[in-house]
Amino acid sequence: MKAETVRKKEQIPAAQGKLGVLIPGIGGAVATTFIAGVEAIRNKWALPIGSLTQMGTIRLGKRTDNRVPYIKDFVNLAGPEDIVFGGWDIFSDNCYAAAKKARVLEKEMIERLQPFLGGIEPFKGVYNKQYLKNLDGNHVKSEKTYLDLANAVKEDIKSFTGKNSIERCVMIWCASTETYLQPSPVHQTIEAFEQGLRENHPDIPPSMIYAYAALTSGIPFVNGAPNLTVDVPALTELARKHEAPIAGKDFKTGQTLLKTIIAPGLKSRMLGLEGWYSTNILGNRDGQVLEDPGSFKTKEESKLSVLQQILQPELYPDLYKDFYHKVAINYYPPRGDNKEGWDCIDIFGWLGYPMQIKLNFLCRDSILAAPLVLDLVLLADFAKRASLSGIQEWLSFYFKSPMEAQGLYPEHDLFIQLMKLKNTLRYLMGEELITHLGLEYYMD
Ligand SMILES: NC(=O)c1ccc[n+]([C@@H]2O[C@H](COP(=O)([O-])OP(=O)(O)OC[C@H]3O[C@@H](n4cnc5c(N)ncnc54)[C@H](O)[C@@H]3O)[C@@H](O)[C@H]2O)c1
Repeated sequence: MKAETVRKKEQIPAAQGKLGVLIPGIGGAVATTFIAGVEAIRNKWALPIGSLTQMGTIRLGKRTDNRVPYIKDFVNLAGPEDIVFGGWDIFSDNCYAAAKKARVLEKEMIERLQPFLGGIEPFKGVYNKQYLKNLDGNHVKSEKTYLDLANAVKEDIKSFTGKNSIERCVMIWCASTETYLQPSPVHQTIEAFEQGLRENHPDIPPSMIYAYAALTSGIPFVNGAPNLTVDVPALTELARKHEAPIAGKDFKTGQTLLKTIIAPGLKSRMLGLEGWYSTNILGNRDGQVLEDPGSFKTKEESKLSVLQQILQPELYPDLYKDFYHKVAINYYPPRGDNKEGWDCIDIFGWLGYPMQIKLNFLCRDSILAAPLVLDLVLLADFAKRASLSGIQEWLSFYFKSPMEAQGLYPEHDLFIQLMKLKNTLRYLMGEELITHLGLEYYMD
């Protein structure tokens, strides 16, 4: 992406026409809660609570200017009413049946939405048991090579956009967490990757096949799970080549959201950390998938990196060298999607005196994730219209493991991430960036 090719303000084409949201994992808890929620919002039965793009404001100019529009009025974003949903799953349930199974929303709400949800049927998924040990998909594509599978996904996209008269699309991965994978030579260049697609290379999981189909169609790709997917050189390069924005990884929702709120606060006050023990119980399908050690390792890597990056032990060895950090997730069916997280935080203050913080977050996983899906699809679509391509670091606000350019460390502090996001919007809309310096109010 070259600075001069980024479009600003009036150059950004309007969000006209329908926006197709393409979801691998459309039968899952997050996806169905998102879809049902958008339809409830369109019917004015509910408010888009948790969505920055729908409920958030942005300050423009000086504090004395009193210019604080809603983000959705300031930026030329598509709205919930423009969205059409499509996607893939390895089970054939339509979104009504899937939402019932997910047990996130109340029965009454699901029944009210039945005509709408029942009309959304998944395309057959791209499935590979090697990457998803704890589920046995039965609604799956049968093409022989990975390249043929990618082409079949592209055909699905074409038929969906044609049938629904869709102008633009965004793909967002809401499917299960794939088993742990380290980057290997097949992920290093576009050529090696395409060769791998032709030869069914074992290091290419289904998520990369969907991403390849999206990117080569110029469609932005967002990754809500911790699997590598587009976070490898071949696919970031492909995104730039096809002028598609990409963002990931792993929605920042429950426990990690709280971590990235609390840890920057402790660090701002120069309070030390001896240990942080986090454990969770959850009983949804995500919890079942994460019982598999391979999938859990992918998640664990994503969750563990956060504190190291925020606390910077290399800069503050007296406060943060060798703190103990443990994350556990246990599958416990009775809780369903209502996850319970406990954090035990051992800190120390003046003269090294120890103190403890205990957190008990009784959250609802998919209720926290759904508004992030809405924001991400609208912002990724905006990024595409603004000609931003490749990694969208300004969207790191939404992720546990934000993607960044090679050689940069990721920014995990939620408040820095929010400032980065809002300043990017100000920049694209030709407004002054806000530094929070404020000295100008005290100068004669
Ligand atoms: N708060 C949250 O809920 C949260 C936060 C961060 C990340 N995530 C991630 O989001 C993803 C979705 O979470 P969920 O709770 O909805 O899980 P879920 O198990 O309810 O849904 C995942 C869906 O993906 C489908 N699927 C699996 N592999 C597929 C494939 N190859 N192609 C198409 N469909 C496939 C499954 O059949 C299932 O319907 C998970 O990876 C999870 O780790 C969720």
